[in-house]
Amino acid sequence: MPTNSQPYILGTDAQELHRLGIQHQIWATEAQKGWNLADFKAGQTILDLGCGPGFCSKELAYIVGESGKVLGVDLDEGYIQHLTQVADLYHLNMDGICSDFNDLQLLNNSLDGMYCRWALAWIPNPKEVLQKVYDALKPGGKMVLHEYYDWSTHQTEPQLPGLNKAIAACLKSFKDQKGEIDIGRELPKLVADLGMNVTGIRLMHKLGTPENLIWQWPKTFYYSYFPRLVKMGLLTQAEAKQAFKDHKTLEKDRNTTLFCPMMVEVIAEKI
Ligand SMILES: C[S@@+](CC[C@H](N)C(=O)[O-])C[C@H]1O[C@@H](n2cnc3c(N)ncnc32)[C@H](O)[C@@H]1O
Repeated sequence: MPTNSQPYILGTDAQELHRLGIQHQIWATEAQKGWNLADFKAGQTILDLGCGPGFCSKELAYIVGESGKVLGVDLDEGYIQHLTQVADLYHLNMDGICSDFNDLQLLNNSLDGMYCRWALAWIPNPKEVLQKVYDALKPGGKMVLHEYYDWSTHQTEPQLPGLNKAIAACLKSFKDQKGEIDIGRELPKLVADLGMNVTGIRLMHKLGTPENLIWQWPKTFYYSYFPRLVKMGLLTQAEAKQAFKDHKTLEKDRNTTLFCPMMVEVIAEKI
């Protein structure tokens, strides 16, 4: 059993797995762009840190091919089982490692690259974890990191007070947890402090409308997370109900826009 003294705030149930799938559909092209910029290629060993069910691990496994290997690390056993089944089903060279980042052991000089998306925001010690990965990278090895730059940018136009309140409660819950939700903005300095060369920084934004797929990203998040906020005592049942009502109102107007939380890509190379 992996060590996990403080629970991971977003949970890992079936609804969350489905949400991660939609999220991946929306963000896959950005991930692929980052991997291209980092020149991830056949024959390499790539770590997918905080891989979840392995949506990115699977794509990376096609990139590294038969002569390479993907290691997917996550603390959730169900997600790692899912990844292992996908590896078997598609005959992919990828291994799932069920471990808390704190217990993870990596061999020095064993990795050509590492990808990490939305995993450093939930832990109290991203620097320590990145140090561990740095030690495992070969010289010339690359990290591609995708995290929030500013979650507070998340908003709709027009704005409705019930939904605004629930979005503010989300941000409060993220600020109260053990990690830094906007860890993305700290990453260039963090990796530079490890002695890495930052080779790329790129802001990534998404604008949803009720008719596009992007709309489904925050929507599936609201339906999974607002009930959790009620359990946490950060929203009442009535406030959650009003937020969903506001969301339905906004969804009826095809001209509503929804700005997703601003993300950043940081690419760094071990010298
Ligand atoms: C928002 S999900 C992102 C999953 C995946 N990177 C993706 O983009 O689809 C964050 C993942 O980090 C994992 N995680 C959170 N804290 C962790 C820790 N301390 N050790 C290992 N995995 C962790 C969670 O189990 C979850 O699967």
